[in-house]
Amino acid sequence: MISHHGLLGALTTVLKDDFERKSGMAAESFGKFQWELEKHIFGEEAILFKLCKKENLEDCQLVIELEKGHTAMLKMLENIKNGSVTNAWAEDIDRFQKFHSKHMEREEKELYPKLDFELSAAEKEEVISKINEILIKKY
Ligand SMILES: [Fe+2]
Ligand SMILES: [Fe+2]
Repeated sequence: MISHHGLLGALTTVLKDDFERKSGMAAESFGKFQWELEKHIFGEEAILFKLCKKENLEDCQLVIELEKGHTAMLKMLENIKNGSVTNAWAEDIDRFQKFHSKHMEREEKELYPKLDFELSAAEKEEVISKINEILIKKY
């Protein structure tokens, strides 16, 4: 998931750059980023967050807050899209990027280490295999 965060971070930078330059690629970059983020969110909610709730891990409040963050980010993207992708304000993307960075940082510093500590080796293997089914590109 951390390496996918790297990809998402790189895609938001490309996206911001395309918007700022008013590049004809902005709509395509936006669509690509939105799809990657949707897959990432699906993987986290369907696998990691569920696991956290099932295992009744101490800090479910964290998962609830992260889920709210997902909803907010998807809404922000929809709002940008509805304002017409190519004319969206660079500030909207900037605001989104800052929110998204903080969200990823929280997952990397608080959620992932917790799961790493709590799950058995077999559980981790199962989680990794499921996540790979969602996030790995197949050509
Ligand atoms: Fe997330
Ligand atoms: Fe994430």
